[in-house]
Amino acid sequence: MSSNIQKMIVTCALPYSNNSLHLGHMLEHIQADIWVRYQKMQKHKVFFICADDAHGTPIMLQAKKFKKTPEEIIQKIKIEHQKDLSDFHIHYDNYHTTHSKENKKLLILIYRRLKQNGFIKSRIIYQFYDIKENIFLPDRFIKGNCPKCKANNQYGDNCEICGATYNPTDLVNPKSTISNSIPIIKKSKHLFFDLPYFSNMLHTWINSGTLQKEIVNKTKEWIQLGLQEWNISRDSPYFGFKIPNVLNKYFYVWLDAPIGYMGTFQNLCNKKDNIVFDDFWKTNSVHGLYHFIGKDIIYFHTLFWPAILEGSKFRKPTNIFVHGHLMVNGQKMSKSRGTFIKTRDYLQYLDADCLRYYYASKLSSNIKDINFDTENFVKKINTDIVNKIVNLASRNASFIHKYFQGYLSNKILHQELYHIFIYAKKDIENAFHIRETNKVIQKVIFLVNLANQYINQQAPWSISEKKEKNKKLHNICSMGIHLFYIIMIYLKPILPSLANKVETFLNTSLSWENIQKPLLSHKIRPFRILFKRIQINEVNNIFYKK
Ligand code: MSP
Ligand code: ZN
Repeated sequence: MSSNIQKMIVTCALPYSNNSLHLGHMLEHIQADIWVRYQKMQKHKVFFICADDAHGTPIMLQAKKFKKTPEEIIQKIKIEHQKDLSDFHIHYDNYHTTHSKENKKLLILIYRRLKQNGFIKSRIIYQFYDIKENIFLPDRFIKGNCPKCKANNQYGDNCEICGATYNPTDLVNPKSTISNSIPIIKKSKHLFFDLPYFSNMLHTWINSGTLQKEIVNKTKEWIQLGLQEWNISRDSPYFGFKIPNVLNKYFYVWLDAPIGYMGTFQNLCNKKDNIVFDDFWKTNSVHGLYHFIGKDIIYFHTLFWPAILEGSKFRKPTNIFVHGHLMVNGQKMSKSRGTFIKTRDYLQYLDADCLRYYYASKLSSNIKDINFDTENFVKKINTDIVNKIVNLASRNASFIHKYFQGYLSNKILHQELYHIFIYAKKDIENAFHIRETNKVIQKVIFLVNLANQYINQQAPWSISEKKEKNKKLHNICSMGIHLFYIIMIYLKPILPSLANKVETFLNTSLSWENIQKPLLSHKIRPFRILFKRIQINEVNNIFYKK
């Protein structure tokens, strides 16, 4: 274990308040939660935080549709999100919302500082306006023909057919998706953040050596193409925070959303008196700040966010950990194909640890998409967890109880094998640290195979003489349990619920610093079923039903 204890804030991207969580979201929360649990097992001081991203046009329109206030909608969704996350054993130190007093205060502070430093400019722009609904239309609420390939039914920002990107006002035959009417073009004065000013700083920051290679390349490409000033204001009606001293204008949701990381941390500081906000956010802070995000929101986190922080005299992130997207049986999740899986639908039929294990076995430090393949899922869980890992415990525990009153022997019978398990620690630690949980699982399965081969060779069941007094039998079965114990310490960040049951069974807690301390002459509890085999038809139940 490393001797220097670090303090850090770890975040996941803040889920929008207008939808339920799905298995794509869980990829991120599970990846981050495993990393955090591992860091905490190493005794680092981690503040793992997240919040709902409550603002924006979609939430406002949804409230209108259901004749509710946006506040009512976001409150209900927040409860749902938190329940889903906690049932997946995602353990946040604080889960807040961007619609909070802490966030508002920090947003205004940051805006004032940016303004004072000359980074906010205003100018007039022309945008589509829905005269039926009296609302300026965000890109996603306008559809029309692609200006390039003429494909119909394309969004206002890019064409899904030919891939072109353009301004909504370039669309041919534009229509408002809210009222289906033809929008007019209307002018309005907006506030812009001077992102181009930060090009050099961003270039240096992304080259500082910690970001993933793919992310560095992507971000560099954007900088080389030339950064644009960023519109941070939105016209009324909007659900968000009002811009002080500007009539009928709100801050764009993507400005207050990342500030929500700070707001959530501030809220935690308010609840606990031993954490100091400034220690973590001042420009020269020595503590870590790590953001887990999906590849669709890189731009916001490697360009806007560090520039906003720099421009308002706060520290920048230590690292941004980007993951790929979730695919289901080889394709993008889709409601029409029935492959859109909500977190709650999964939880109704399956154990959270199954998905945690499956994702962990696929996740690494690159940004490739991750495929959830139902048959592969069933096979992996049953083969790895049930047939190999848990079986190692059950086949040995029965003897320990039947003949030795539940006591393990006082000896490590095969030191050589035992040391292979101990020596794996360094590699496993490194793999956890760099988020290569696929390697953790590979290594663990390699070890558990060795352990099971060992038991097969020793064949404790075939020892026939006076079992109660047979030292060899006692030592072999104890050996099996010692090896199982080490494996479960390694797997604890990935399988918290199984680890919990194993702690009861082994009558001890699974902690990293005890890897080298075998449970000699230790009393364990009777073996109870630790994990249930899963069936393909249970898995098929989780698919989207209308
Ligand atoms: N609200 C913004 C984030 C603001 S952060 C200051 C947002 N919300 S989201 O709900 O759409 O997505 C939240 C996170 O989930 C993002 O990191 C996103 O990449 C991730 N995922 C959403 N769908 C996903 C998949 N299908 N697969 C993997 N992750 C995906 O973006
Ligand atoms: Zn096109």
